Amino acid sequence: MCGIVGAVAQRNITPLLVEGLKRLEYRGYDSCGVALHVNGQLKRSRSTSRVAELETQLDAAKLSGFTGIAHTRWATHGAPVSHNAHPHFSPSDTNARIALVHNGIIENHEELRDELSALGYIFDSQTDTEVIAHLIDHMYTGDLFDTVQQAVKRLNGAFAIAVFCRDEPHRVIGARQGSPLIVGVGRGENFLASDAMALAGTTDQIMYLEEGDVVDLQLQRCWIVDVDGKAAQREVKTVHVHTGAAELGPYRHYMQKEIFEQPRAIGDTLEGVTGIMPELFGDKAHDIFKQIDSVLILACGTSSYAGMTAKYWIESVAKIPVSVEIASEYRYRDSVPHPKTLVIAISQSGETADTLAALKHARNQGMLHTLTICNVATSAMVRECELSYITRAGVEVGVASTKAFTTQLAALFLLTLTLAQVKDHLSAVQEAAHLKAMRHLPVAITAVLALEPQIIAWSEEFSRKENALFLGRGMHYPIALEGALKLKEISYIHAEAYPAGELKHGPLALVTNEMPVVTIAPNDALIEKLKSNMQEVRARGGQLYVFADADSHIKSSEGVHVIRLPEHYGLLSPILHVVSLQLLAYHSALARGTDVDKPRNLAKSVTVE
Ligand code: M6R
Repeated sequence: MCGIVGAVAQRNITPLLVEGLKRLEYRGYDSCGVALHVNGQLKRSRSTSRVAELETQLDAAKLSGFTGIAHTRWATHGAPVSHNAHPHFSPSDTNARIALVHNGIIENHEELRDELSALGYIFDSQTDTEVIAHLIDHMYTGDLFDTVQQAVKRLNGAFAIAVFCRDEPHRVIGARQGSPLIVGVGRGENFLASDAMALAGTTDQIMYLEEGDVVDLQLQRCWIVDVDGKAAQREVKTVHVHTGAAELGPYRHYMQKEIFEQPRAIGDTLEGVTGIMPELFGDKAHDIFKQIDSVLILACGTSSYAGMTAKYWIESVAKIPVSVEIASEYRYRDSVPHPKTLVIAISQSGETADTLAALKHARNQGMLHTLTICNVATSAMVRECELSYITRAGVEVGVASTKAFTTQLAALFLLTLTLAQVKDHLSAVQEAAHLKAMRHLPVAITAVLALEPQIIAWSEEFSRKENALFLGRGMHYPIALEGALKLKEISYIHAEAYPAGELKHGPLALVTNEMPVVTIAPNDALIEKLKSNMQEVRARGGQLYVFADADSHIKSSEGVHVIRLPEHYGLLSPILHVVSLQLLAYHSALARGTDVDKPRNLAKSVTVE
């Protein structure tokens, strides 16, 4: 999704801005651009191709400067075309005084556009961002810092902006409300970015701006005012960011590499867990876990499916009622707050706007006990929550989440055991058995990965289909949902998931011999019920593709294709089964020739509503 880099230095910052954009590429974008202060003028270069192409353009134009801003755009308002790419200039391209980049969405942009058009401003783009550039130009007093503080008061919605002015070289102003923005502190130079990752290799001295902050970056100083316009100090933290410059090695795509990294990622996530201890989640965890009597999970997409799986675990093992809410819905509906609830935000990136907003909404309603399961230790989610568990998946580059999901599940299972222990529902014998199974997960996953050749054979069939159904029961229903999401987001095959018992209540109408029906068939208490549901599919000619446990006695026959996983893995079975579905999605997409790591229309880090 959109990314910002900005710099004020005494050296040519073009390579630094380009490098920053490259580091933000993993978030997904459809255009990019750089603007620089060059000999008293504002110059820019924009591209609807990759950052590497923008770099070539900048080299060809020999664009260099000491002050500038850069952006990767993921289109919301206006198509991904060059004139909508940031930076935006005001009052016009040929006579630019203000250059600006923006992450987020300005909700009152139409009203501002009308107002500024009436004042004579000509709009070159369909974006909501261009109104901010013109607004700042219109309100400009000769002091950009002062002007931006006044201008942002006119904006409704979410934004992080970086802006500079032709008439004030060596100065970049940043402001944030609802979208992240950080300051990188250098020696005689300072930087802005939407994410510490963008500044890796430039500085590790990072200040996280707070809601409503406006920052004045100059060569030797960095001055911040808060939402009330008062001088504010923000702590400078040393932040070591994984650069994510992971090599592909023998793999064709990052998604494939990340699927195969799962044994390592889960091993790392559980490293150091020698026993069940609340302190693994933070110093106050024991007291908080004692007090709470319910759990509310907030998340989006794949992370919400991790939450749904955890609901089965927590309710059956720790005996605590759990509700799982899609963050984008929860934040806008009337719900009944309960102060003894543990609110859990699950997020790979820790920057998902909907999840952050839902978390704040829960807190504003008086639910103050918050915990996040997150893959980025420096993220907003971790900073916002009282407790946290950091998964150690490593940087996930592929837009489709894989190792982030299974490490979330591993962390959530650990949380389940911890809650069970605090609530006196876990004996020492049970604890030892569960820990043994968790430690064995890397080996068990490796056995599932070895099924890749069989899954490739199935994917040839899938790649020719336009629809697929996924069935699961119990805690494998969220895994069916995740399998369907993986398939649709990277192969563009329409896929739906149902709890298998729901089939006869509607979706059975879709089943013909053209419909592949992927069935997750662990050898658990529901296996006989599931076999009946499979018969319902076969009776209508549907083709069953069954991921069965080795001990489940489901045999291949006409229209029933079976791949056998290892023997049933008890409560942790969802972690194994999802790996086979990731491989199916990956190879189906590969056979269809899609852009697996950067599927159309999607972004890695969804920082807008
Ligand atoms: O970073 P988060 O875990 O908060 O992201 C949530 C979703 O945007 C994410 O899981 C999305 O659904 C992925 N594309 C799934 O592969």
